[in-house]
Amino acid sequence: MSLSTLFEQAQEFLQLYYFESNLGGVEKRLDEVQAEIMRSGTYCLTEEELSYGAKLAWRNSNRCMGRLFWKSLKVRDRRTLTTAREVFEDALEHLESATNGGKIRATLTAYPTEEEGNRGFRILNKQLIRFAGYTKPTGEVIGDPDSLEFTKYCMSLGWEGKKTAFDVLPLVIQREGEPASWFVIPEEKVLRVAITHPEYAWMEELGLQWYAVPVISDMRLEIGGISFPCAPFNGWYMLTEIAARNLGDVQRYNMLPEIAKKLNLDTRQVKTLWKDKAMLVLQEAVLHSFQAKGVTLVDHHTASEQFLEFCKQEDAKGRTVQADWAWIVPPASGSTLGVFHQEWDNQILSPNFHYQPAPWKQEEADHIPNFTAGKCPFSAN
Ligand code: ARG
Repeated sequence: MSLSTLFEQAQEFLQLYYFESNLGGVEKRLDEVQAEIMRSGTYCLTEEELSYGAKLAWRNSNRCMGRLFWKSLKVRDRRTLTTAREVFEDALEHLESATNGGKIRATLTAYPTEEEGNRGFRILNKQLIRFAGYTKPTGEVIGDPDSLEFTKYCMSLGWEGKKTAFDVLPLVIQREGEPASWFVIPEEKVLRVAITHPEYAWMEELGLQWYAVPVISDMRLEIGGISFPCAPFNGWYMLTEIAARNLGDVQRYNMLPEIAKKLNLDTRQVKTLWKDKAMLVLQEAVLHSFQAKGVTLVDHHTASEQFLEFCKQEDAKGRTVQADWAWIVPPASGSTLGVFHQEWDNQILSPNFHYQPAPWKQEEADHIPNFTAGKCPFSAN
């Protein structure tokens, strides 16, 4: 990015921040940033700017339905850490504080970025907590099929899983210019919810569970032209993410056939609607289990109402909500939800979160300077 583009983006963000926060003196701050960019080629956000910028990135996340709560994001500034182990230990603190015994707090932690002149970091996991997936010699998959490739990569680094269906993957952290290191997440940092059903005792026997806190750790946070490639963030789950997708999808845990069998449904023909019935029972189970354990989780009906309230509030502020309909509308019960009957513009505003290449995938690592993938026995070269 050219220095003038960087300054323009800084200017756009700082003006927005000062305006929305009713702060005076933006001209002085802009002069300062301009001088800093001229002198060093970049600039550093203050802690307050980082904090407000992260909230704006959430507010601008077109695919997120939970945005009503954007102002409550707790932002942890950890831009002075220098080793992978320090980042690991701090990530455990993020987990603990965000989990909060089940009363989940939306939290983001910013780790050092090379764009502010530091040695940058990457967390290679998709989320801080996620389950491993293994292929048995028979071809059968144990665990989360979506984690197969990353699990192999972790094993190539020397990690060994227990081979249960719910092994938490190690956290893999890479400092710019260094090889990746892996760390085991202590079990006491992982809040798990066993899935039971209020009426069907057999549900418990299926041995299903999910973790409480989804902490996205592989996206890039961009604020005022500065990128934070390592800035894990979390909200709390919406019911359908776990019940409809993670446990229900055919290419994930694929539990609907087993549940339908327990319900004695005729699974020979799709037109008996056995998938729909089994899905509803699985949703009841996940909702019940999280509630019984006191873990925050929002059902899709409430989430839809909250999102429409967010739209109302944004409208009142004179801002146009940008949203991606296909992601906002939940994967179950579509037309019963208010959001189904709405349309939105889908422009990408700044600040925001973005996808980025994964350093552990050789082909993608080639596009990230200073983050070479360790030679992986499973990659083509
Ligand atoms: N859909 C992802 C999962 O099931 C989580 C994405 C973030 N979700 C959230 N509620 N903040 O793990």
